[in-house]
Order: sequence, then C-alpha cells, then structure tokens
Amino acid sequence: MAPAGRRMSPPLLLLLLCAGTLRATGAAEAVSPERSLVWGPGLRADIAVPVRYFYIQAVSEDGRNLTASPGNKSFKVSIKSLSTKEFVRIHVPDPLDRNDGSFLMRYRMYGSAGEGLVIEVRHHDQHVAHSPYILKGPVYHEYCDCPEEDPDIWQQTYSCPSSEEQISKDFAPFPSIDLKRMLEEVPKRFAESRGAIVHYTILNNQIYRRSLGKYTDFKMFSDEMLQSLARKVRLPDFEFYINVGDWPVEHRKANDTPGPLPMISWCGSSDSRDIILPTYDVTHSTLEALRGVTNDLLSIQGHTVQIPGEPRWDGGCVQVPVSHDGGQPGLEAGFPIL
Ligand SMILES: *[C@@H]1O[C@H](CO)[C@@H](O)[C@H](O)[C@H]1NC(C)=O
Ligand SMILES: *[C@@H]1O[C@H](CO)[C@@H](O)[C@H](O)[C@H]1NC(C)=O
Repeated sequence: MAPAGRRMSPPLLLLLLCAGTLRATGAAEAVSPERSLVWGPGLRADIAVPVRYFYIQAVSEDGRNLTASPGNKSFKVSIKSLSTKEFVRIHVPDPLDRNDGSFLMRYRMYGSAGEGLVIEVRHHDQHVAHSPYILKGPVYHEYCDCPEEDPDIWQQTYSCPSSEEQISKDFAPFPSIDLKRMLEEVPKRFAESRGAIVHYTILNNQIYRRSLGKYTDFKMFSDEMLQSLARKVRLPDFEFYINVGDWPVEHRKANDTPGPLPMISWCGSSDSRDIILPTYDVTHSTLEALRGVTNDLLSIQGHTVQIPGEPRWDGGCVQVPVSHDGGQPGLEAGFPIL
C-alpha cells in the first residue's frame, strides 16, 4: 500500500560508496586515551532502554577531535556485573565505527544487575577518559517490570523535551477531547469500512484494548510499544484510538462541523488531521535492536554514506531511502531518519 518513495539510482549510490571508501583510507592518527571522550545515556544506571548506548570520541595527543576513523579496532569495551557473585548476561558487540572519529557503543542486557555494572573502555591496554565507569545498581534490563512510580521524575531522567513541536501541532485542532463522542463515532466512521482501529485504555498501568475492525493485526506493534513503556514508568490513566492501517483516516478540517476526531496514526498527510507517532518499523526496530534487526536508529549510524533528497510527507507511509545491506532502500517510516 505504501507509495514508492524516491530511490537512488544505482550508479549514484556506487559513486557515494566509493567516495566513502576513499575518505576512509587516509593514514590513521594517534589517539590519546586520556584526552578522548566518552559520554551518553548508557553510562547511567537509571536510563533503562532496550539497547543502552554511549559514544566515544577519539581525540589526538594535542587535543583535537579526530574527524576520520582511527581504525575500527581502536577501542575495546567490557561490561560486567559489579558483583562477582552476580552473573548477568549482556550482549556487548564491538563499538560501531561512525567513520568520523567517533564510535557508538551499544549493549543489551538480558538480566538486571542488582549491585550495578562496571564499564571499561580501553585503547590498546589503557583506560580511556574516566574509565572504568561504575553504574550503581539496580540497573534494569528491558524486560524488567520495574516502572518508575513518578512520571515527572522519569521524564527528567530521560531528558524528554517538555514539548514536541510536531505532536503539539497535530493536537492543535483538538483543544478538548470528547471521549463519549469518540465512543459513538469512531466505530461507525472508521471501523466499518476500513476496520484497522484499536481502542486502548490504560488503567492502573495495565493495558486494555479492543479491536474495531478486521485489519488490526498490527496491534502487536502498538502493544509492544505500550508494554515497554509501562515496564519503565507508571503511565497515567488514559484512553485513545490508534489507526494501525496504511493511510491516515481523518480528513475533516479543524473548523468543519462536525469537527475532526483525534485519531493516532503511523502515517499522515498534508490534508488529514491524524496525530502521528513514530511508525511501527521504528518502534519495533528500537525494541528489537541487537536482536537480529539491522535497520534500527542506532545501527544506521554506522552507515555514514550521505543520501541526498528528503523523504516526503504528503503521502501515506513514507519510504525512506536508507543505505544498508548494499544500499537496498528500506525502512518504511513515518518520519525522516537521516
Ligand atoms: C569534540 O567532540 C565533542 C563530542 O562531539 C564535542 O563536545 C567537543 O566540543 C569537540 N571539541 C572540539 C574542540 O571541537
Ligand atoms: C573493520 O575494518 C576491517 C578493515 O577495513 C574490515 O574488514 C572489518 O569488517 C571491519 N570490522 C567491523 C566490525 O566493521
């Protein structure tokens, strides 16, 4: 159903790949372990995400940030439980070379570390920056049902912005929401013909839902996103309708009578009022990162070839051209990735 987006012609892609290779073959500069920088949310115990991550910036002896890769084996990272008595299974791949002098370090925990974690970052045999980093426990893994009770504290911890421009804009036509009216109108207007609507209610941090229509299998993606959130923070009680179909559904204008209904969707367009969340491909790949998916928002940071051309917004789902696995266009997404 998704319209074809812009795709790059193979010769142009090849050219760009070649340019990237040439750039990377310059002589590697010496790295100073003391002056190099290490930072990011993956060094904090209280930020529980499916894949924790932090960055390493290679810095030269005279204090300049390297802007080319010093070699993809420049840094070694080890991540272990702080307690020798506690074994925690942690997937620790090599740092991802971003080819600009910086690296992205990802790790995925398959158990919680009660006492904490110790993270060592080394260049050859020397500790880098303030390594070893001690994360005082508990350090929770993705599947721990360990919600922070106070949503405000959670938002601060995760540095959530106090407002989000696109969401605010999408909600602007809905200064107040009449749930009773939605209960009557949503099934008639959106579920009978297309039938890809799911009605969610969150009550006491439990998730309840009912499907409205025949084409609601993709609720597995909205389910997993909400479940992941509910494990991390006690959600307020709320209720909403999500359209899990391929196209936006609400085409009434803000000043029409009757007015539009606030429908959550994964796809929008310039002539619809749907409220857009990151699409299932983005949320699913984020939840499943380092477990087989390769087109998640972290992995693609290793694909540093620049793609010209902006994905467009005025259709159904946007096909974003992301270069991975030999430049296949992939990752259908509700917002631009690169
Ligand atoms: C080096 O890189 C770090 C991380 O991106 C940045 O914060 C810092 O300002 C850079 N330093 C210089 C001198 O450009
Ligand atoms: C590291 O670089 C070597 C040589 O350029 C390459 O063969 C290898 O695949 C790279 N490894 C990773 C993990 O990117």
